[in-house]
Amino acid sequence: MLIKSFSAESGKKQRPCNYREFLTVIFGHDLLCIQVIHIAYIVFWMVARMLIFFFIMSAVLSLACAYIARRIVTVSGWTAGHKGFVYSLAAAFVVFELAVFFAQRRWNLPGPLLDGMQWSSYFLLGLMATVFLYLVVGDLLLVLFRLFAGKHAIMPFFARFLPRAAVLLALVSCLIGFFQALQAPRVRTETVVIKGLPHDFAGFKISHLSDLHIGAPNGAGLVESAVNISNGLDPDIVVITGDLVDGTVGRILPKLAGLKNLESKYGVYFCPGNHEYYWNYEAWMPAIEGLGIKVLANTHHVISAPGGTRIILGGVTDHDPDAAKAFAGAPTGAPRVLLSHHPALLDVAAAQNTALLLSGHTHGGQFFPWWIFLAATHKHYRGLGGHAGMHINISSGTGFWGPPNRFMIPAEVVLVTLKAPIAS
Ligand SMILES: [Fe+2]
Repeated sequence: MLIKSFSAESGKKQRPCNYREFLTVIFGHDLLCIQVIHIAYIVFWMVARMLIFFFIMSAVLSLACAYIARRIVTVSGWTAGHKGFVYSLAAAFVVFELAVFFAQRRWNLPGPLLDGMQWSSYFLLGLMATVFLYLVVGDLLLVLFRLFAGKHAIMPFFARFLPRAAVLLALVSCLIGFFQALQAPRVRTETVVIKGLPHDFAGFKISHLSDLHIGAPNGAGLVESAVNISNGLDPDIVVITGDLVDGTVGRILPKLAGLKNLESKYGVYFCPGNHEYYWNYEAWMPAIEGLGIKVLANTHHVISAPGGTRIILGGVTDHDPDAAKAFAGAPTGAPRVLLSHHPALLDVAAAQNTALLLSGHTHGGQFFPWWIFLAATHKHYRGLGGHAGMHINISSGTGFWGPPNRFMIPAEVVLVTLKAPIAS
């Protein structure tokens, strides 16, 4: 049997297998030897991809850690023994990060042990990344000072002060960010004016959750907190724009049980994010539906008010998103709201007459100063904005991913209220 390049049901793209089709056409049918070659091909690419990824990951981590260790021992004035200790610590960190990365995917470790390893791993990774970035900025400043101040008497002071200040600032920001990450999400309220909004939907309240990342390293506590906050807003619908989970169904589903307590008048809706694909998309979609949440994967749902008027709520997948397919067959004339995990769908969503696009994914940068990179590469990366007559709300995330750090960018639940234009 030939492998399809696209599964219309799941919306997930699969690897095309042209050489197999070619050989089958040549020999007339799917021979056993072709099947053996096909299996060997798949195994080879699995191993090769893993080795390439392992090599790149360990090389990046090692280089960053070597740079940090070298800068620390250079300015510290420590003895050879202490220097050896710093380098050993850096090497141990790299080994630990790689071990946790593979442990969470390959090894069946007890839940609490894996949770503890993930918390430590992500905290240290965030610390390392922040120290690295601040040190690079400090060193760039030093280069500038050397260019302009030359051999001024103050230069030796700068050479010692800047790297130390960078490390100290990184440590303080990580510590504050850690405590901010432990706080309950804040509520951000937005009102959007929708052209042609039926009278029945004036004041319609959408509770927008996104990127809870339950499993790495958030747990049932965050679910409970988000549910309580959302219920307190008395929403008409609740939407979750992807990246709900970070782990297998077997390990994470019990932590999501609290989502069954989400309250709303017209239901709870979900569109998949990239992380749902990392942890078996096909297994997660029915599991999420089992929590009483309607999955919108390149499809839509018509929300009808008691008065008979309607709005259309569409949702797209993260892999192969198709906004046209999502709204196919939807009643015309009703305002459209689209859920898309990734906010890059601005033009596509606007072309489908979407009135409001709800997205996530960016985490608003998650912690200072990473938002600077997002601001440089995205038209919208956080908060409420507009594009081609369409409103867009990008959640900064209700949880966090990776490093437990929310320095200056708090997690949030967004309450979006729809409003009709004032009649002239
Ligand atoms: Fe994402």
